[in-house]
Amino acid sequence: MTHTSSTKEIPAVGAIPKHIAIIMDGNGRWATKRFLPRVAGHVKGVEAVRGIVEACARRGVSYLTLFAFSSENWRRPADEVSLLMRLFVTALEKEVAKMHANDIRLKVVGDLTRFDAQLQKMIAAAEEKTAANKGLTVTVCANYGGRWDIVQAMNKLLKDREASPVSTPQVTEDELGTYLSMAYAPEPDLFIRTGGETRISNFLLWQLAYSEFYFTDTFWPDFDAAALDLSIQSYQNRERRFGRTSAQVTEQSSPKESN
Ligand code: IPE
Ligand code: IPE
Ligand code: MG
Repeated sequence: MTHTSSTKEIPAVGAIPKHIAIIMDGNGRWATKRFLPRVAGHVKGVEAVRGIVEACARRGVSYLTLFAFSSENWRRPADEVSLLMRLFVTALEKEVAKMHANDIRLKVVGDLTRFDAQLQKMIAAAEEKTAANKGLTVTVCANYGGRWDIVQAMNKLLKDREASPVSTPQVTEDELGTYLSMAYAPEPDLFIRTGGETRISNFLLWQLAYSEFYFTDTFWPDFDAAALDLSIQSYQNRERRFGRTSAQVTEQSSPKESN
């Protein structure tokens, strides 16, 4: 219950983004371009995840959020879906110990009830093992949808209201925000989508309200630390205003002596 909107305070221009959220897109096209099956792209994609997690940890990013499987991805051919699930299991088996050793906290958000029992257990165990870690928080969004998130938040809130009714039934943004699946994190500063598409595809709809957007044609398997640095540089050159004028923002970052 620590949610506060990050749009209330303006981070300094040139600061490293505290929270980076990525739609890792283009695995299939990366493979097709090489006359390989799409699954080869997903396998390569996992390697790219490893590189970006490490790069973010080194650069002092606090939160990295990765869209791994959307609520709409069940529409893909059954063999691709089952391979993605298997990859998820293998990645957990291989990576969790390493993450733990590097003080990384792992969170998995989304409607996990649709995953098989073994995978759900592995996720719970990985989260538990890394819960107290103080370094980078890596959130994997799996069977996640932005609309699902808002609706599940509202449903939880209604349940709490039923248990303890309030005299003013109106819901505030801050209150609903505490029920969102990523209430433990500030909203993303930088949103990246690889693979050339310029859409949100039902990712973090609520939380991206004031994020800076960065789109690149680079396919996810090719997105390395150098590519990440380009996106961070782009972010660092932007002035975030959250509705204010540029003059107000400049004033705030270098306040004049008032007497
Ligand atoms: C993203 O790559 C990975 C997932 C959605 C799981 P895609 O598989 O969407 O790759 P493209 O967009 O077909 O190239
Ligand atoms: C979005 O990619 C979801 C993930 C990267 C997990 P998609 O490739 O599924 O998005 P659309 O369907 O092209 O918008
Ligand atoms: Mg895609």
